[in-house]
Amino acid sequence: MARSTIILVLSFALTAVAPPFTKGPRANEPASDVPGASFNRIFQIWMENVDFEVAAADENMKWLAENGILLTNFYAGKPSSHPNYVGAVGGDTFGLQNDNVNNIPANVSTVVDLLDYKGISWAEYMEGIPSAGYQGSRSGNYVRKHNPLITYDSVSKNSTRLERIKSLADFDHDLSNNMLPQWAFFAPDIKNDGHDTGIGYGARWLRGWLEPLLKNDHFMNGTLVIVTFDEDGSYDKINRVYTVLLGGAIDPALRGTTDSMYFNHYSAISSVSANWDLPSLGRWDCNANIFSSVANRTNYRNTNISSYEGLWWNEANSPAMATWGQMSAGDIAGLVDVANGIHPDLPESDYVFAERLKLFPEGCKILKQGDEVCGYAISHPICYHHPPALDSLLGEIAPDADQYYIHDIAILPRFRRRGLAGKCISTLLTVARRYPTTCLVSVYETVPFWARFGFVAEPVDEVLLEKLREYGEDAKYLTRSNDLDL
Ligand SMILES: *[C@@H]1O[C@H](CO)[C@@H](O)[C@H](O)[C@H]1NC(C)=O
Ligand SMILES: *[C@@H]1O[C@H](CO)[C@@H](O)[C@H](O)[C@H]1NC(C)=O
Ligand SMILES: *[C@@H]1O[C@H](CO)[C@@H](O)[C@H](O)[C@H]1NC(C)=O
Ligand SMILES: *[C@@H]1O[C@H](CO)[C@@H](O)[C@H](O)[C@H]1NC(C)=O
Ligand SMILES: *[C@@H]1O[C@H](CO)[C@@H](O)[C@H](O)[C@H]1NC(C)=O
Repeated sequence: MARSTIILVLSFALTAVAPPFTKGPRANEPASDVPGASFNRIFQIWMENVDFEVAAADENMKWLAENGILLTNFYAGKPSSHPNYVGAVGGDTFGLQNDNVNNIPANVSTVVDLLDYKGISWAEYMEGIPSAGYQGSRSGNYVRKHNPLITYDSVSKNSTRLERIKSLADFDHDLSNNMLPQWAFFAPDIKNDGHDTGIGYGARWLRGWLEPLLKNDHFMNGTLVIVTFDEDGSYDKINRVYTVLLGGAIDPALRGTTDSMYFNHYSAISSVSANWDLPSLGRWDCNANIFSSVANRTNYRNTNISSYEGLWWNEANSPAMATWGQMSAGDIAGLVDVANGIHPDLPESDYVFAERLKLFPEGCKILKQGDEVCGYAISHPICYHHPPALDSLLGEIAPDADQYYIHDIAILPRFRRRGLAGKCISTLLTVARRYPTTCLVSVYETVPFWARFGFVAEPVDEVLLEKLREYGEDAKYLTRSNDLDL
Protein backbone atom coordinates (compact mmCIF):
# COMPACT_ATOMS: atom_id res chain seq x y z
CA MET A 1 0.00 0.00 0.00
CA ALA A 2 2.71 2.37 1.05
CA ARG A 3 4.71 1.37 -1.99
CA SER A 4 1.98 2.14 -4.52
CA THR A 5 1.46 5.50 -2.89
CA ILE A 6 5.11 6.32 -3.47
CA ILE A 7 4.86 5.28 -7.09
CA LEU A 8 1.78 7.41 -7.52
CA VAL A 9 3.47 10.42 -6.00
CA LEU A 10 6.60 9.90 -8.03
CA SER A 11 4.81 9.55 -11.31
CA PHE A 12 2.83 12.65 -10.52
CA ALA A 13 6.05 14.51 -9.85
CA LEU A 14 7.52 13.21 -13.12
CA THR A 15 4.53 14.37 -15.10
CA ALA A 16 4.74 17.77 -13.53
CA VAL A 17 8.42 18.35 -14.40
CA ALA A 18 8.63 16.28 -17.56
CA PRO A 19 9.96 18.10 -20.62
CA PRO A 20 7.33 18.70 -23.31
CA PHE A 21 7.62 15.41 -25.17
CA THR A 22 5.99 15.12 -28.50
CA LYS A 23 2.54 13.68 -28.10
CA GLY A 24 1.75 10.27 -29.44
CA PRO A 25 3.91 7.18 -29.58
CA ARG A 26 7.66 7.51 -29.41
CA ALA A 27 10.55 5.09 -29.44
CA ASN A 28 11.92 4.25 -26.05
CA GLU A 29 14.26 1.55 -27.17
CA PRO A 30 17.81 1.59 -25.84
CA ALA A 31 20.40 3.29 -27.97
CA SER A 32 22.76 1.02 -29.86
CA ASP A 33 26.53 1.19 -29.45
CA VAL A 34 28.03 0.05 -32.75
CA PRO A 35 31.59 1.36 -32.93
CA GLY A 36 32.57 3.20 -36.10
CA ALA A 37 35.95 3.72 -37.72
CA SER A 38 36.02 7.44 -36.92
CA PHE A 39 32.88 8.31 -34.97
CA ASN A 40 30.31 6.45 -32.90
CA ARG A 41 27.57 8.99 -33.33
CA ILE A 42 26.68 11.51 -36.00
CA PHE A 43 24.49 14.59 -35.57
CA GLN A 44 23.60 16.65 -38.60
CA ILE A 45 22.24 20.14 -38.06
CA TRP A 46 20.80 21.98 -41.05
CA MET A 47 20.50 25.73 -41.30
CA GLU A 48 18.87 27.55 -44.21
CA ASN A 49 19.72 29.54 -47.34
CA VAL A 50 22.93 31.47 -46.71
CA ASP A 51 25.90 32.07 -49.01
CA PHE A 52 29.24 30.77 -47.76
CA GLU A 53 30.69 34.28 -47.59
CA VAL A 54 27.73 35.60 -45.60
CA ALA A 55 27.95 32.80 -43.04
CA ALA A 56 31.72 33.25 -42.84
CA ALA A 57 31.23 36.87 -41.81
CA ASP A 58 28.94 35.99 -38.89
CA GLU A 59 30.69 36.00 -35.51
CA ASN A 60 28.80 32.99 -34.17
CA MET A 61 29.49 30.93 -37.26
CA LYS A 62 33.15 31.93 -36.95
CA TRP A 63 33.06 30.71 -33.37
CA LEU A 64 31.80 27.33 -34.60
CA ALA A 65 34.62 27.14 -37.15
CA GLU A 66 37.18 27.92 -34.44
CA ASN A 67 35.90 24.90 -32.55
CA GLY A 68 35.93 22.50 -35.47
CA ILE A 69 37.04 21.96 -39.05
CA LEU A 70 35.60 24.35 -41.62
CA LEU A 71 34.93 22.67 -44.97
CA THR A 72 35.67 25.36 -47.53
CA ASN A 73 34.71 23.37 -50.61
CA PHE A 74 31.31 21.93 -49.71
CA TYR A 75 28.32 22.14 -52.05
CA ALA A 76 24.57 21.87 -51.89
CA GLY A 77 22.13 21.34 -54.73
CA LYS A 78 19.40 23.51 -56.20
CA PRO A 79 16.78 24.60 -57.08
CA SER A 80 14.92 24.62 -53.76
CA SER A 81 15.26 23.52 -50.13
CA HIS A 82 13.23 20.37 -50.03
CA PRO A 83 15.17 18.36 -52.65
CA ASN A 84 18.35 18.95 -50.63
CA TYR A 85 16.79 17.47 -47.50
CA VAL A 86 15.38 14.56 -49.48
CA GLY A 87 18.79 13.93 -51.08
CA ALA A 88 20.61 14.06 -47.75
CA VAL A 89 18.97 10.81 -46.64
CA GLY A 90 18.11 9.22 -49.99
CA GLY A 91 21.22 9.86 -52.04
CA ASP A 92 19.21 11.49 -54.83
CA THR A 93 16.66 14.22 -55.28
CA PHE A 94 14.66 11.99 -57.62
CA GLY A 95 14.05 14.96 -59.87
CA LEU A 96 12.14 16.90 -57.21
CA GLN A 97 12.18 20.60 -57.95
CA ASN A 98 9.70 21.94 -55.45
CA ASP A 99 8.90 22.34 -51.76
CA ASN A 100 5.53 20.60 -51.92
CA VAL A 101 4.24 17.68 -49.88
CA ASN A 102 5.92 14.85 -51.81
CA ASN A 103 5.81 11.12 -51.19
CA ILE A 104 8.51 8.81 -52.48
CA PRO A 105 7.36 5.19 -52.96
CA ALA A 106 8.05 2.64 -50.21
CA ASN A 107 10.39 0.64 -52.41
CA VAL A 108 12.95 3.49 -52.37
CA SER A 109 15.56 2.91 -49.67
CA THR A 110 17.19 5.58 -47.51
CA VAL A 111 20.11 5.85 -45.13
CA VAL A 112 17.96 4.36 -42.36
CA ASP A 113 17.82 1.08 -44.26
CA LEU A 114 21.61 1.12 -44.23
CA LEU A 115 21.66 1.88 -40.49
CA ASP A 116 19.09 -0.84 -39.75
CA TYR A 117 21.40 -3.28 -41.53
CA LYS A 118 23.70 -3.16 -38.50
CA GLY A 119 21.13 -2.18 -35.90
CA ILE A 120 22.49 1.37 -35.57
CA SER A 121 19.92 3.48 -33.74
CA TRP A 122 18.67 6.60 -35.48
CA ALA A 123 16.21 9.45 -35.04
CA GLU A 124 15.27 12.82 -36.38
CA TYR A 125 14.74 15.77 -34.06
CA MET A 126 12.49 18.33 -35.70
CA GLU A 127 12.01 21.47 -33.73
CA GLY A 128 8.33 22.31 -33.33
CA ILE A 129 6.91 19.09 -34.78
CA PRO A 130 3.58 18.78 -32.92
CA SER A 131 3.71 15.00 -32.49
CA ALA A 132 6.10 12.18 -33.29
CA GLY A 133 5.78 11.24 -36.94
CA TYR A 134 3.42 14.14 -37.71
CA GLN A 135 2.84 14.23 -41.46
CA GLY A 136 1.22 17.60 -42.03
CA SER A 137 2.93 20.22 -44.15
CA ARG A 138 3.22 22.84 -41.44
CA SER A 139 2.48 23.50 -37.81
CA GLY A 140 3.59 26.75 -36.24
CA ASN A 141 7.23 27.18 -37.24
CA TYR A 142 7.68 23.52 -38.13
CA VAL A 143 7.68 22.78 -41.86
CA ARG A 144 7.55 19.34 -43.42
CA LYS A 145 9.73 20.40 -46.36
CA HIS A 146 12.70 20.54 -43.97
CA ASN A 147 12.04 17.04 -42.65
CA PRO A 148 14.07 14.67 -44.81
CA LEU A 149 12.71 11.23 -43.87
CA ILE A 150 8.99 11.98 -43.74
CA THR A 151 8.87 12.22 -47.55
CA TYR A 152 9.80 8.56 -47.88
CA ASP A 153 6.90 6.11 -47.64
CA SER A 154 9.42 3.54 -46.39
CA VAL A 155 9.48 5.67 -43.24
CA SER A 156 6.08 7.33 -43.13
CA LYS A 157 4.17 4.06 -43.65
CA ASN A 158 6.15 2.24 -40.93
CA SER A 159 4.95 3.08 -37.43
CA THR A 160 8.21 2.00 -35.77
CA ARG A 161 10.09 4.43 -37.95
CA LEU A 162 7.55 7.22 -37.57
CA GLU A 163 8.05 7.16 -33.81
CA ARG A 164 11.66 8.15 -34.36
CA ILE A 165 10.72 11.42 -35.98
CA LYS A 166 10.67 13.38 -32.76
CA SER A 167 10.86 16.91 -31.49
CA LEU A 168 13.80 18.89 -30.19
CA ALA A 169 12.28 18.64 -26.70
CA ASP A 170 12.61 14.86 -26.99
CA PHE A 171 16.28 15.42 -27.64
CA ASP A 172 16.74 16.79 -24.11
CA HIS A 173 14.96 13.75 -22.74
CA ASP A 174 17.03 11.31 -24.82
CA LEU A 175 20.25 13.08 -23.86
CA SER A 176 19.62 12.98 -20.14
CA ASN A 177 18.44 9.36 -20.27
CA ASN A 178 21.41 8.01 -22.28
CA MET A 179 19.07 7.26 -25.13
CA LEU A 180 20.70 9.28 -27.87
CA PRO A 181 20.64 7.45 -31.18
CA GLN A 182 23.88 6.97 -33.13
CA TRP A 183 22.57 8.76 -36.21
CA ALA A 184 20.49 11.91 -35.91
CA PHE A 185 19.27 14.70 -38.11
CA PHE A 186 18.27 18.00 -36.54
CA ALA A 187 16.25 20.67 -38.21
CA PRO A 188 15.63 23.82 -36.19
CA ASP A 189 12.32 25.51 -36.97
CA ILE A 190 12.10 28.10 -39.75
CA LYS A 191 12.94 30.92 -37.41
CA ASN A 192 15.90 29.33 -35.66
CA ASP A 193 17.37 27.92 -38.88
CA GLY A 194 17.61 31.47 -40.24
CA HIS A 195 15.04 30.86 -43.01
CA ASP A 196 12.64 33.53 -41.84
CA THR A 197 15.09 35.51 -39.76
CA GLY A 198 18.52 35.63 -41.39
CA ILE A 199 21.94 34.38 -40.41
CA GLY A 200 22.42 36.70 -37.42
CA TYR A 201 19.36 35.32 -35.64
CA GLY A 202 19.91 31.72 -36.73
CA ALA A 203 23.60 31.59 -35.81
CA ARG A 204 22.90 33.16 -32.41
CA TRP A 205 20.27 30.50 -31.72
CA LEU A 206 22.55 27.75 -32.95
CA ARG A 207 25.47 28.77 -30.79
CA GLY A 208 23.19 29.19 -27.77
CA TRP A 209 21.89 25.67 -28.24
CA LEU A 210 25.12 23.96 -29.26
CA GLU A 211 27.68 25.56 -26.95
CA PRO A 212 26.52 23.72 -23.79
CA LEU A 213 26.37 20.47 -25.75
CA LEU A 214 29.95 20.87 -26.91
CA LYS A 215 30.89 20.96 -23.21
CA ASN A 216 28.82 17.88 -22.39
CA ASP A 217 31.17 14.89 -22.15
CA HIS A 218 28.40 12.41 -22.73
CA PHE A 219 27.11 14.17 -25.82
CA MET A 220 30.61 14.72 -27.17
CA ASN A 221 31.87 11.18 -26.62
CA GLY A 222 32.81 9.85 -30.08
CA THR A 223 30.36 12.24 -31.74
CA LEU A 224 30.71 13.94 -35.12
CA VAL A 225 28.53 17.05 -35.40
CA ILE A 226 27.94 18.48 -38.86
CA VAL A 227 26.60 21.99 -39.12
CA THR A 228 25.65 22.89 -42.67
CA PHE A 229 23.13 24.79 -44.80
CA ASP A 230 20.56 23.24 -47.10
CA GLU A 231 21.67 25.58 -49.92
CA ASP A 232 23.13 29.02 -50.40
CA GLY A 233 21.14 32.23 -50.61
CA SER A 234 21.79 33.17 -54.24
CA TYR A 235 20.46 31.71 -57.45
CA ASP A 236 23.26 33.03 -59.63
CA LYS A 237 26.15 31.39 -57.79
CA ILE A 238 27.71 28.01 -57.47
CA ASN A 239 26.08 26.58 -54.38
CA ARG A 240 28.91 26.58 -51.84
CA VAL A 241 27.67 26.29 -48.28
CA TYR A 242 29.39 26.89 -44.95
CA THR A 243 29.93 23.56 -43.26
CA VAL A 244 31.70 22.84 -39.98
CA LEU A 245 32.59 19.48 -38.47
CA LEU A 246 32.71 19.50 -34.68
CA GLY A 247 32.48 17.16 -31.75
CA GLY A 248 34.48 14.66 -29.78
CA ALA A 249 35.28 12.61 -32.88
CA ILE A 250 37.35 15.50 -34.26
CA ASP A 251 41.04 15.44 -33.44
CA PRO A 252 41.47 18.39 -31.01
CA ALA A 253 44.67 19.32 -32.86
CA LEU A 254 42.54 20.07 -35.94
CA ARG A 255 40.17 22.52 -34.24
CA GLY A 256 40.19 25.83 -36.04
CA THR A 257 41.60 24.34 -39.27
CA THR A 258 40.02 24.11 -42.72
CA ASP A 259 39.65 21.28 -45.22
CA SER A 260 39.46 22.21 -48.90
CA MET A 261 38.52 18.78 -50.26
CA TYR A 262 35.38 18.79 -52.41
CA PHE A 263 32.33 17.52 -50.51
CA ASN A 264 28.59 17.78 -50.96
CA HIS A 265 25.46 16.75 -49.06
CA TYR A 266 25.83 13.17 -50.29
CA SER A 267 29.14 13.01 -48.39
CA ALA A 268 27.14 12.65 -45.18
CA ILE A 269 25.72 9.33 -46.45
CA SER A 270 28.98 8.06 -47.93
CA SER A 271 30.80 8.92 -44.68
CA VAL A 272 28.19 7.01 -42.65
CA SER A 273 28.55 3.97 -44.94
CA ALA A 274 32.35 4.06 -44.71
CA ASN A 275 32.40 4.71 -40.96
CA TRP A 276 30.24 1.71 -40.08
CA ASP A 277 31.13 -0.40 -43.10
CA LEU A 278 27.54 -0.34 -44.37
CA PRO A 279 26.25 -0.92 -47.89
CA SER A 280 25.59 2.08 -50.13
CA LEU A 281 22.29 3.27 -51.55
CA GLY A 282 23.71 2.90 -55.06
CA ARG A 283 22.94 6.52 -55.88
CA TRP A 284 24.93 9.76 -55.67
CA ASP A 285 26.28 8.57 -52.33
CA CYS A 286 28.45 5.98 -54.13
CA ASN A 287 31.17 8.28 -55.34
CA ALA A 288 30.61 11.14 -52.92
CA ASN A 289 33.81 12.09 -51.14
CA ILE A 290 34.05 10.90 -47.53
CA PHE A 291 34.86 13.32 -44.70
CA SER A 292 38.64 13.29 -44.28
CA SER A 293 38.56 11.98 -40.71
CA VAL A 294 36.67 8.89 -41.95
CA ALA A 295 38.65 8.60 -45.17
CA ASN A 296 41.88 8.61 -43.12
CA ARG A 297 40.66 5.80 -40.88
CA THR A 298 39.31 3.67 -43.72
CA ASN A 299 42.19 4.25 -46.16
CA TYR A 300 39.83 5.78 -48.68
CA ARG A 301 41.28 8.19 -51.21
CA ASN A 302 39.00 11.07 -52.05
CA THR A 303 39.11 12.62 -55.51
CA ASN A 304 39.19 16.37 -55.36
CA ILE A 305 37.34 18.28 -58.01
CA SER A 306 39.94 20.81 -58.95
CA SER A 307 37.96 22.76 -61.48
CA TYR A 308 34.44 23.28 -60.31
CA GLU A 309 33.93 26.54 -62.11
CA GLY A 310 30.94 26.08 -64.33
CA LEU A 311 30.16 22.72 -62.79
CA TRP A 312 27.05 24.17 -61.21
CA TRP A 313 26.50 21.39 -58.81
CA ASN A 314 23.49 23.34 -57.67
CA GLU A 315 21.79 22.36 -60.91
CA ALA A 316 23.04 18.81 -60.77
CA ASN A 317 19.57 17.39 -60.65
CA SER A 318 18.24 19.42 -63.51
CA PRO A 319 20.43 19.48 -66.63
CA ALA A 320 18.42 16.65 -68.10
CA MET A 321 15.32 18.68 -67.53
CA ALA A 322 16.23 21.84 -69.42
CA THR A 323 15.19 20.92 -72.94
CA TRP A 324 14.84 22.59 -76.29
CA GLY A 325 11.45 22.76 -77.88
CA GLN A 326 9.49 24.64 -80.49
CA MET A 327 9.01 28.28 -79.53
CA SER A 328 5.48 29.58 -79.21
CA ALA A 329 4.09 33.11 -78.85
CA GLY A 330 3.66 32.57 -75.09
CA ASP A 331 7.44 32.20 -74.73
CA ILE A 332 8.31 35.67 -76.03
CA ALA A 333 8.07 37.49 -72.68
CA GLY A 334 10.44 35.01 -71.01
CA LEU A 335 12.71 35.18 -74.05
CA VAL A 336 12.98 38.96 -73.82
CA ASP A 337 13.98 38.66 -70.14
CA VAL A 338 16.75 36.24 -71.06
CA ALA A 339 17.89 38.46 -73.97
CA ASN A 340 17.99 41.56 -71.79
CA GLY A 341 19.94 39.71 -69.13
CA ILE A 342 22.52 38.34 -71.55
CA HIS A 343 23.07 41.22 -73.98
CA PRO A 344 21.57 44.38 -72.49
CA ASP A 345 23.74 46.39 -74.90
CA LEU A 346 22.00 44.81 -77.93
CA PRO A 347 18.33 45.27 -77.05
CA GLU A 348 15.61 44.00 -79.35
CA SER A 349 11.87 44.46 -79.00
CA ASP A 350 9.40 41.70 -78.24
CA TYR A 351 7.55 42.38 -81.51
CA VAL A 352 10.77 41.76 -83.46
CA PHE A 353 11.13 38.31 -81.89
CA ALA A 354 7.41 37.67 -82.36
CA GLU A 355 7.64 38.51 -86.07
CA ARG A 356 10.56 36.10 -86.64
CA LEU A 357 8.57 33.38 -84.93
CA LYS A 358 5.57 34.08 -87.12
CA LEU A 359 7.58 34.25 -90.36
CA PHE A 360 9.86 31.27 -89.75
CA PRO A 361 8.76 29.12 -86.79
CA GLU A 362 11.08 26.26 -87.76
CA GLY A 363 14.08 28.43 -86.95
CA CYS A 364 12.84 29.50 -83.50
CA LYS A 365 13.61 27.25 -80.54
CA ILE A 366 13.11 27.75 -76.83
CA LEU A 367 15.09 26.20 -73.96
CA LYS A 368 12.94 25.61 -70.90
CA GLN A 369 13.18 23.97 -67.54
CA GLY A 370 9.63 23.52 -66.39
CA ASP A 371 8.01 26.87 -67.12
CA GLU A 372 11.25 28.81 -66.88
CA VAL A 373 12.71 30.09 -70.15
CA CYS A 374 16.46 29.53 -69.90
CA GLY A 375 17.52 30.13 -73.48
CA TYR A 376 16.35 30.64 -77.04
CA ALA A 377 17.48 30.55 -80.65
CA ILE A 378 16.23 32.64 -83.56
CA SER A 379 17.24 31.82 -87.15
CA HIS A 380 15.81 32.23 -90.63
CA PRO A 381 16.79 32.49 -94.30
CA ILE A 382 18.13 35.80 -95.73
CA CYS A 383 19.60 37.04 -98.99
CA TYR A 384 23.33 36.35 -99.21
CA HIS A 385 25.31 38.75 -97.00
CA HIS A 386 22.20 40.78 -96.14
CA PRO A 387 21.41 40.17 -92.48
CA PRO A 388 18.70 42.44 -91.10
CA ALA A 389 19.66 45.40 -88.91
CA LEU A 390 19.28 44.87 -85.16
CA ASP A 391 15.85 45.43 -83.68
CA SER A 392 14.15 45.74 -87.05
CA LEU A 393 11.18 43.98 -88.56
CA LEU A 394 11.70 41.76 -91.62
CA GLY A 395 8.27 42.20 -93.24
CA GLU A 396 8.72 38.85 -95.00
CA ILE A 397 11.23 36.09 -95.67
CA ALA A 398 12.65 37.14 -99.06
CA PRO A 399 11.37 34.71 -101.74
CA ASP A 400 14.91 34.67 -103.24
CA ALA A 401 16.59 34.00 -99.86
CA ASP A 402 19.77 32.00 -100.49
CA GLN A 403 21.57 31.92 -97.16
CA TYR A 404 20.60 30.72 -93.70
CA TYR A 405 21.11 33.15 -90.85
CA ILE A 406 21.45 32.38 -87.15
CA HIS A 407 20.30 35.63 -85.67
CA ASP A 408 20.70 34.94 -81.97
CA ILE A 409 21.26 32.02 -79.66
CA ALA A 410 21.43 32.74 -75.96
CA ILE A 411 21.48 30.54 -72.86
CA LEU A 412 21.45 31.69 -69.25
CA PRO A 413 24.87 31.18 -67.61
CA ARG A 414 23.49 28.59 -65.19
CA PHE A 415 22.57 26.34 -68.11
CA ARG A 416 25.82 26.60 -70.05
CA ARG A 417 28.55 23.97 -70.38
CA ARG A 418 26.13 21.14 -70.75
CA GLY A 419 26.14 20.82 -74.51
CA LEU A 420 22.73 22.47 -74.76
CA ALA A 421 23.91 25.08 -77.28
CA GLY A 422 25.44 22.35 -79.45
CA LYS A 423 22.18 20.41 -79.50
CA CYS A 424 20.24 23.40 -80.69
CA ILE A 425 22.82 24.41 -83.30
CA SER A 426 22.71 20.90 -84.79
CA THR A 427 18.95 21.22 -85.16
CA LEU A 428 19.24 24.65 -86.79
CA LEU A 429 21.98 23.49 -89.15
CA THR A 430 19.73 20.66 -90.26
CA VAL A 431 17.07 23.20 -91.22
CA ALA A 432 19.83 25.28 -92.85
CA ARG A 433 20.76 22.47 -95.28
CA ARG A 434 18.21 23.77 -97.77
CA TYR A 435 20.61 26.67 -98.40
CA PRO A 436 24.26 26.45 -99.45
CA THR A 437 25.67 28.40 -96.51
CA THR A 438 24.83 29.54 -92.98
CA CYS A 439 26.04 32.84 -91.58
CA LEU A 440 25.97 34.71 -88.28
CA VAL A 441 27.40 37.70 -86.50
CA SER A 442 29.69 36.54 -83.70
CA VAL A 443 29.96 38.81 -80.68
CA TYR A 444 31.56 38.48 -77.24
CA GLU A 445 34.58 36.57 -78.61
CA THR A 446 32.60 33.52 -79.58
CA VAL A 447 34.62 32.86 -82.78
CA PRO A 448 36.38 29.76 -81.32
CA PHE A 449 33.01 28.40 -80.19
CA TRP A 450 31.52 28.73 -83.68
CA ALA A 451 34.70 27.31 -85.27
CA ARG A 452 33.71 23.97 -83.71
CA PHE A 453 30.71 23.93 -86.04
CA GLY A 454 32.79 24.86 -89.10
CA PHE A 455 32.14 28.60 -89.07
CA VAL A 456 34.98 30.77 -90.34
CA ALA A 457 35.37 34.54 -90.61
CA GLU A 458 34.71 35.93 -94.07
CA PRO A 459 35.83 39.17 -95.65
CA VAL A 460 32.86 41.54 -95.93
CA ASP A 461 32.05 44.63 -97.99
CA GLU A 462 31.61 48.19 -96.67
CA VAL A 463 27.81 47.91 -96.35
CA LEU A 464 28.00 44.79 -94.24
CA LEU A 465 30.88 46.22 -92.23
CA GLU A 466 28.68 49.20 -91.37
CA LYS A 467 25.94 46.83 -90.17
CA LEU A 468 28.44 44.89 -88.05
CA ARG A 469 29.44 48.05 -86.20
CA GLU A 470 25.98 48.05 -84.61
CA TYR A 471 27.06 44.90 -82.80
CA GLY A 472 30.18 46.43 -81.28
CA GLU A 473 33.90 46.44 -81.99
CA ASP A 474 34.51 42.72 -81.67
CA ALA A 475 31.70 41.63 -84.05
CA LYS A 476 32.76 39.17 -86.79
CA TYR A 477 30.81 37.86 -89.75
CA LEU A 478 31.13 34.07 -89.86
CA THR A 479 29.91 31.60 -92.46
CA ARG A 480 29.92 27.89 -92.94
CA SER A 481 29.27 25.64 -95.90
CA ASN A 482 26.21 23.49 -95.30
CA ASP A 483 27.93 20.59 -97.07
CA LEU A 484 30.00 20.10 -93.93
CA ASP A 485 29.03 17.20 -91.72
CA LEU A 486 27.31 18.10 -88.48
C1 LIG B 1 8.23 1.13 -56.80
O1 LIG B 1 6.96 1.54 -56.40
C2 LIG B 1 6.29 2.36 -57.33
C3 LIG B 1 5.01 2.87 -56.70
O2 LIG B 1 4.32 1.85 -56.06
C4 LIG B 1 6.03 1.54 -58.59
O3 LIG B 1 5.40 2.37 -59.55
C5 LIG B 1 7.37 1.07 -59.13
O4 LIG B 1 7.16 0.22 -60.23
C6 LIG B 1 8.14 0.31 -58.06
N1 LIG B 1 9.46 0.02 -58.58
C7 LIG B 1 10.02 -1.15 -58.46
C8 LIG B 1 11.41 -1.29 -59.05
O5 LIG B 1 9.48 -2.09 -57.92
C1 LIG C 1 9.86 -0.85 -40.07
O1 LIG C 1 10.93 -0.19 -39.43
C2 LIG C 1 11.74 -1.00 -38.62
C3 LIG C 1 12.75 -0.09 -37.95
O2 LIG C 1 13.49 0.63 -38.88
C4 LIG C 1 12.39 -2.08 -39.46
O3 LIG C 1 13.19 -2.93 -38.67
C5 LIG C 1 11.32 -2.87 -40.17
O4 LIG C 1 11.92 -3.80 -41.05
C6 LIG C 1 10.40 -1.96 -40.94
N1 LIG C 1 9.30 -2.71 -41.48
C7 LIG C 1 9.03 -2.75 -42.78
C8 LIG C 1 7.85 -3.55 -43.18
O5 LIG C 1 9.74 -2.17 -43.59
C1 LIG D 1 32.45 6.96 -24.31
O1 LIG D 1 32.03 5.88 -25.13
C2 LIG D 1 32.72 4.70 -24.90
C3 LIG D 1 32.28 3.69 -25.94
O2 LIG D 1 30.90 3.59 -26.00
C4 LIG D 1 32.46 4.23 -23.46
O3 LIG D 1 33.18 3.05 -23.21
C5 LIG D 1 32.87 5.33 -22.49
O4 LIG D 1 32.52 4.97 -21.20
C6 LIG D 1 32.19 6.65 -22.86
N1 LIG D 1 32.69 7.75 -22.05
C7 LIG D 1 31.91 8.71 -21.56
C8 LIG D 1 32.59 9.81 -20.82
O5 LIG D 1 30.70 8.71 -21.73
C1 LIG E 1 43.87 13.07 -42.64
O1 LIG E 1 45.20 12.69 -42.92
C2 LIG E 1 45.99 13.74 -43.45
C3 LIG E 1 47.33 13.12 -43.85
O2 LIG E 1 47.90 12.45 -42.77
C4 LIG E 1 46.14 14.83 -42.41
O3 LIG E 1 46.90 15.89 -42.93
C5 LIG E 1 44.75 15.36 -42.08
O4 LIG E 1 44.84 16.31 -41.05
C6 LIG E 1 43.84 14.22 -41.64
N1 LIG E 1 42.51 14.78 -41.52
C7 LIG E 1 41.65 14.49 -40.57
C8 LIG E 1 40.39 15.23 -40.54
O5 LIG E 1 41.89 13.62 -39.75
C1 LIG F 1 40.52 20.97 -54.17
O1 LIG F 1 40.26 21.75 -55.32
C2 LIG F 1 40.01 23.11 -55.02
C3 LIG F 1 39.58 23.79 -56.31
O2 LIG F 1 40.55 23.70 -57.27
C4 LIG F 1 41.27 23.72 -54.41
O3 LIG F 1 41.03 25.08 -54.10
C5 LIG F 1 41.62 22.96 -53.16
O4 LIG F 1 42.82 23.44 -52.63
C6 LIG F 1 41.74 21.47 -53.43
N1 LIG F 1 41.85 20.78 -52.18
C7 LIG F 1 42.60 19.69 -52.01
C8 LIG F 1 42.59 19.08 -50.66
O5 LIG F 1 43.28 19.19 -52.90
